Amino acid sequence: MIEPRPNVSVLSLVNQKGGCGKTTTAVNLAGALAARGEPVLLIDLDPQAHATLALGCAILDEPSIAEVLLDEARPIEAIQPAPGGIDLLPASPRLGEFEDVSERLLHPEQRLSRSITALGERYRWVIVDCPPRADGVLCANALFASTTALLIVETGAFALQGALQALRVFEETAERQGRKPPVKVIGTLFDRRTRFARELLVAMHGRFGEEMFDTVIRTSVRLREAPAVGLPIQELAPTSRAAADFDALTEEIMQTLAPSTTESTSSSGPTPAAPSTPTRARG
Ligand SMILES: Nc1ncnc2c1ncn2[C@@H]1O[C@H](COP(=O)(O)OP(=O)(O)O)[C@@H](O)[C@H]1O
Ligand SMILES: [Mg+2]
Repeated sequence: MIEPRPNVSVLSLVNQKGGCGKTTTAVNLAGALAARGEPVLLIDLDPQAHATLALGCAILDEPSIAEVLLDEARPIEAIQPAPGGIDLLPASPRLGEFEDVSERLLHPEQRLSRSITALGERYRWVIVDCPPRADGVLCANALFASTTALLIVETGAFALQGALQALRVFEETAERQGRKPPVKVIGTLFDRRTRFARELLVAMHGRFGEEMFDTVIRTSVRLREAPAVGLPIQELAPTSRAAADFDALTEEIMQTLAPSTTESTSSSGPTPAAPSTPTRARG
């Protein structure tokens, strides 16, 4: 048994497929939560560091999530303030090193959970952007730490099959790892201009029912641009359709997945006491 963490919602964004919108959803969900004044930490658990780069941050010498998992830095030392009021625990290529050494460690999959626990009630929300590799130790860490897994599904051709396959992979992985958080489905890259897409959405709701959020994230040029600018959509284009989509999704998530306390219990505030200066790497 792991200890309950009633005051923090840890949401991991998963799908073994790359390019389905995990990072986009992670960054902009964190941005929308922060825009509402919610204390939120975004953890980039992908060695490709796309979420880190999408917020205009790059890791040079400062500690990242890799050093935290390798027990070389405390989580608070690695957290950086990022645009839009998001606190970021950035990724670096050294995450690959953690994957390598984890074979020699006892319970390597519990390290992320331990680090989040060490942050106490500083954050109400922890959003974890997962790598596409579902069977690795990084994803195992995310699942072990999560209060809910968010399965991100691209609503294009074969979306239902894709979603069912992603769910199957998720369940197999979770069972192998002995910890299976509840899962909720979020549809992304939705193009409502086609009847086909609308029918698909109905089919997905039919299959997943309550487990699927009503909000789908529509395809948007602004969302595609945002990572290059290094800003979440709420900062880049607050009145855009994409910002409205993420606001609606955030509303649903706050209604259904908020930690058990309704008021912010963070005594030390949403930002870390002494965050290191982020390294700007604007594209
Ligand atoms: N709703 C969307 N509208 C337009 N482009 C999107 C949308 N969601 C994601 N993308 C783009 O699709 C690509 C893959 O998205 P990403 O979030 O990086 O997926 P993943 O993290 O699952 O690999 C990126 O170029 C991203 O900008
Ligand atoms: Mg990604």
